[in-house]
Amino acid sequence: MFRAPASILDQLLAAADEALRTLSGAVTAARPSPATDRAVPSSEADRRTSAGLMRVNHTGEICAQALYSGQALVARDARIRGALQSAAAEERDHLAWCGARLAELGSRPSLLDPVWYAGSFAWGVASGLAGDRWSLGFLAETEAQVERHLEGHLDRLPAGDKASREIVAKMRDDEARHGETGRSLGAAELPYPVKRAMQSASKVMTRTAYWV
Ligand SMILES: [Fe+2]
Ligand SMILES: [Fe+2]
Repeated sequence: MFRAPASILDQLLAAADEALRTLSGAVTAARPSPATDRAVPSSEADRRTSAGLMRVNHTGEICAQALYSGQALVARDARIRGALQSAAAEERDHLAWCGARLAELGSRPSLLDPVWYAGSFAWGVASGLAGDRWSLGFLAETEAQVERHLEGHLDRLPAGDKASREIVAKMRDDEARHGETGRSLGAAELPYPVKRAMQSASKVMTRTAYWV
């Protein structure tokens, strides 16, 4: 359906506002953090490992905000736009939980977050423009890859860092549900080269965000 230029401009401004709020850290969680024991690992090596991994997860959630924002901007079907926005609200909780945990671990978000936001937003718009089925396919594949990634972090997070583990476990469960929602709304199966390209991009992100 044709949308008047004013409404497109409104949506662009709303997307820009979302970007600024996400990147400035002005994000509040609607749900309480799943962390029950906020103790920080006693060994410096473990604290650094936790901070690196949680910084990666924080950047992943920055990417999720950007992806969903880009997809919602161009989604054709109001039902799909609604599903994208409600998943994005849960991703905002993840972002706030990871940000708070990073601070507790005495660390900070990745300096490259604006770059990752811009790239993910572009991917979101591109997949949205390809059509709702492809957009949902992209979402379902992203969530599946994130779920596996978080599973890996549960193996790598220090055993003494209960809070980070609780946050990551809850995020993994939410991501699995987001993937199911995408599939139930008619997600297309992405071609293998696209899946590979997504894996490669996320590998670059996870490797750099751990350190920078
Ligand atoms: Fe998430
Ligand atoms: Fe998700």
